[in-house]
Amino acid sequence: MAAEQNVQSLDSAFYQSADTFFYGQAGTALTYDDLTLATLYSEILPRNASLDTELADGLTLHIPMVSADMDTVTESRMAIGMALNGGLGLIHYNMADKQQLKEVSRVKNHIHGLIQEPITVAPDQSVGEVLERIDAKSYSFSTFPVVGDDQKLVGLLSGNVIKPRYASKKITDALVPRDQVQTIQEKELGADPITIADQFFTEHPGINKLLVVDAEDRLRGLFTLSDIERITLEKQAQFRPARDDQFRLLCGAAVSTPRTPDGTLDRERIETHVGGLVERGADVVAVSTAHGHTKGVGEAVELIRNAYPDLHITAGNVTSAEGVEFLADKGANIIKIGQGPGSICTTRLVAGVGIPQMTALYVASRVAEAKGVSLLADGGITKSGDIVKALTLANSVICGGLLAGCPEAPGKVMEISGKLYKQYRGMGSLEAMKAGSAARYGHAAKDAGRKVAAEGIEALKEVSDNLDHLLAQLIGGIQAGMGYLGAPSLPELRKRARYIRVSPAGQREAAPHDVIEMKASQ
Ligand code: XMP
Repeated sequence: MAAEQNVQSLDSAFYQSADTFFYGQAGTALTYDDLTLATLYSEILPRNASLDTELADGLTLHIPMVSADMDTVTESRMAIGMALNGGLGLIHYNMADKQQLKEVSRVKNHIHGLIQEPITVAPDQSVGEVLERIDAKSYSFSTFPVVGDDQKLVGLLSGNVIKPRYASKKITDALVPRDQVQTIQEKELGADPITIADQFFTEHPGINKLLVVDAEDRLRGLFTLSDIERITLEKQAQFRPARDDQFRLLCGAAVSTPRTPDGTLDRERIETHVGGLVERGADVVAVSTAHGHTKGVGEAVELIRNAYPDLHITAGNVTSAEGVEFLADKGANIIKIGQGPGSICTTRLVAGVGIPQMTALYVASRVAEAKGVSLLADGGITKSGDIVKALTLANSVICGGLLAGCPEAPGKVMEISGKLYKQYRGMGSLEAMKAGSAARYGHAAKDAGRKVAAEGIEALKEVSDNLDHLLAQLIGGIQAGMGYLGAPSLPELRKRARYIRVSPAGQREAAPHDVIEMKASQ
């Protein structure tokens, strides 16, 4: 019978479009490993597949990846790394409002290649003191700008004189004086500082430091030749940094939904803080909660939308069509999908609630299209194949655990039995709630100290590769998936995706099996 059918209808009987497949599975909740994508005729070389994704009008990422607004994942360093790679970081809110504003400013003011707060020395110090400091702090460099109390540039202490033989010399007597130091005015850097610095080094052979000063000759930063050379090479990379229309890196920030002592939403605090974030240039605010389909979250989104009509607002989390519609109607334009899939989440165990990701994404995606909002698949991503599957229904993924072992994530490295780890904890873990995230889980901050039901755990992640390398691996995987489906772009991937269920035996077949693995991949 099958042989008599034409080959196309044979394929489509087994490998089904999203609507046919998910309706056929209605009543069963599926996640990434429960299904696989079928290949299609392709003329696409993976490396040519475009990963641009438009989250909202005027908010385009060049890779569909967002780092989670968690206190062990995203602060300014991670957000800078994500944006430089074409993605987006959401700065968490487990810190004082003022501190979060500072973190956003760090990202928005970041100039790639420019060391914005270089380590300086004072003219009345001795070379010996500098040697001690290098030793104590394990600096890997030995050239220092010399500045006075007023931050004005006095000269440059070159690595050539940082030697024990000169230890007793005062820096004033050892420095290259101000009039011989190469500098550039901050305002001359323009929109493309790297090209300006690159040109400078080409025109000045032998010089490998360029200091940036303001109109009053105060030190504002430092370029080094080696950084500029590395970045110029990287510029040939396929994925451009994600920037706003003023050439600043994109940055998002999560906002909490605090309440006043009488239990009502603290409207004044929310409005003031979001105002501060907007002023600092945040491109998107994320109203991040465990249950977004609630009166409180709806009110918070509405409040922000009314106060800032042009601001991009992410809200969540929801897993139902009604939830997406609700948040979209309140004014959110990017909706987070995910309840309980996260690697540190225990919501499903504690509350008995939550939906495996692919089913949740399918249900959400049908309303999202009608409502003109985009979707972020939040949580549960453990490998690039999961990202490809998520992107058949969502516009980007949010990753927590996958990035928490990177040096760019906040937190100290610890050594246990010869292995290096970093802390990774759920925002619904008791410790994180005590640090500020209680409102996200519907508890008052004062409750977090007593026994409330935690919905997340505290865990460790093995220290991983740096963010650039990790993202390069993941991007390679996403592009491979697109190549298999013949999709030159993410909208095409969504159109072309065909799904089929995988049995437990199929899942075992998908991973390395019946071999002794010598080197684990990713
Ligand atoms: P992954 O799997 O990337 O998940 O580590 C990150 C996402 O998990 C959510 N999140 C939590 N969910 N309890 C939960 O049920 C928690 O304590 C918790 N902390 C974070 C969040 O959506 C994040 O982006």
